[in-house]
Amino acid sequence: MRAAITVLEAGYPWHTCSMEISEKLRREIAAQNATFPRLRSGLMPALHRVYQACGEINAGAVAELAEIFEMTPDEVRSVVELSNALDSPRRGRHQVKVCVGGTCLRDGAREFLGALSCRIGVPVGEISEDGRIELGEEVCFGACAAAPLMWVGDDMHDDVGLDDAERILAALE
Ligand code: FES
Repeated sequence: MRAAITVLEAGYPWHTCSMEISEKLRREIAAQNATFPRLRSGLMPALHRVYQACGEINAGAVAELAEIFEMTPDEVRSVVELSNALDSPRRGRHQVKVCVGGTCLRDGAREFLGALSCRIGVPVGEISEDGRIELGEEVCFGACAAAPLMWVGDDMHDDVGLDDAERILAALE
């Protein structure tokens, strides 16, 4: 069963959350809505954004989305329940990977990854609470002489120290 629907059904009469959608997320939704000819056309993309950021569409989010899209909560719930599109696994906004291939391991990649995970408070293989960062590991990026090696999306950072890595990740939106 879809994660979003599971949350909706299991939560009946739905736990409430007064600020499920952050101000930043609201601004992103508003900017996206401005690209659509009809306000309601932006609902599905907005549901995706909320789901990716929060990991669920709960009652608070439904209420806020209803307000944003000038719909009733029941109408928003219907769209959520009819949508297969929320099946996709939740992803962090930024994919951050550290190489743990043989050469990098020898040069301390595992320790680096563990320390980075502690510093930013995101377990390896998981997503930060705010949905910004998904921290993972990868095996050999083909730059074996430059460990520790961290990828942020398409950007490679080689020979990166913990302070630098933390600064790079803190600067991500
Ligand atoms: S082992 Fe890390 S880049 Fe090759």
